[in-house]
Amino acid sequence: MLTKEENERMCRVGPGTPMGDALRRYWIPALLSADLPEADCTPKRVQLLGENFVAFRDTNGEVGVLDEACPHRGASLALGRVEDCGIRCLYHGWKFGTDGTIQDTPNMPNPQYKDRFKAPAYPAFEAGGMVWVYLGPNDKEPPRPHFRHFDVDADHIITRAVVQPCNYVQIMEGFVDSSHLTILHQDALASVETGGFVSTESTSRIAADAGPRLEIANTDSGFCYAAIRAVPSEGDPVEHARVTTFTAPIFSMQAPDNVFIAAVPMDDESTLFFNVFWDIEKPINTEPLLTQTLEFFGLSPEIIDRMGMTFESWKRPDAANPNNHFLQDREGMEAGTTFSGLPDFVPEDAAITNSMGPFYDRTREHLVPADAAVIRMRRLLLHCADLVEKGGEPIGVRSDKSQLRAVAADLDPGQRWVDLIELQDQDAW
Ligand code: FES
Ligand SMILES: [Fe+2]
Repeated sequence: MLTKEENERMCRVGPGTPMGDALRRYWIPALLSADLPEADCTPKRVQLLGENFVAFRDTNGEVGVLDEACPHRGASLALGRVEDCGIRCLYHGWKFGTDGTIQDTPNMPNPQYKDRFKAPAYPAFEAGGMVWVYLGPNDKEPPRPHFRHFDVDADHIITRAVVQPCNYVQIMEGFVDSSHLTILHQDALASVETGGFVSTESTSRIAADAGPRLEIANTDSGFCYAAIRAVPSEGDPVEHARVTTFTAPIFSMQAPDNVFIAAVPMDDESTLFFNVFWDIEKPINTEPLLTQTLEFFGLSPEIIDRMGMTFESWKRPDAANPNNHFLQDREGMEAGTTFSGLPDFVPEDAAITNSMGPFYDRTREHLVPADAAVIRMRRLLLHCADLVEKGGEPIGVRSDKSQLRAVAADLDPGQRWVDLIELQDQDAW
């Protein structure tokens, strides 16, 4: 449970808010690289942390992120033309490079005028199928993060983003909530086939125990926790540890070490939820594994459209929403063919987190030991806000993220779960 003040402080992300200032100190994903598929393609409007931006790919293939509003008189640059290494505003033709340099001002004949200032532009780079952007103060820009999946070949990695009409923290609480896997996602876990994307052994162990014991260890960029489940066995009792990593401020790695997720606030009540899956051994971004993987997670184009998880569908009245019970299959639930009545996995999470309302009030909840990692995550976020408010740097902006892992494994007698991920002693925060 949080006080109303703590909840507001943790969840509000606009400019000048404590959490908004903290989030602006990190590199965050803004859109998919695939949203800008080729040089000089249609630009993309992007909303991040309560502000509007335009992203475009110039003639050289370089991505630029600028304020959406043209610095002349505020027309949307998302309507602009992308040509000759810049984006040109439709209204009076001012043109800007990826770094905000003003290249042309047709209605201002003095050629020196355009050298006097720049359009607000934000550093960006591409990795892991995403465009990453830094929105904070120029003199505080941290090094670019490097997560393990940045090194995976393009045909071995699938990156998708869905939109949700709720605050980002609601989504992130699901990242660190192992007990809901056993209940909400039980149909998906039961459907996993041997050799598929997620191993049967791991998923059958999740199914065995809805009340795992949670143990948590801080890292220099957040924390790892193990959900330890007692697994029925014929011989000595077996303990299974599912270790999840949470990295400040919005990232998580999920077992069995092939899922990276990020909840990027668009504003206080909407979130862009990135899902990245990879496989070092085999290409999954080619058929048939691409379709199989997307269907397993409920991210096929047909499902995310019907469930209102795309920019085209999320406000459409016939897409899943509270007024139509998120299109839940109540007949299937009665007949016993589905537990949740929702498409497996991500749409289940989306319906649940959206059902909490766009901005969840944490003053009236009843937390239990299975929520220990949720509590740790909230504490981490509030701590980051405190640090930045006091003039410091938030947790983990400069830490090495390339070794962060998640894993699921049975523990040998006497084995510590932290050894599964080779977690060295780290600076506690
Ligand atoms: S508003 Fe963009 S050029 Fe005038
Ligand atoms: Fe979930």
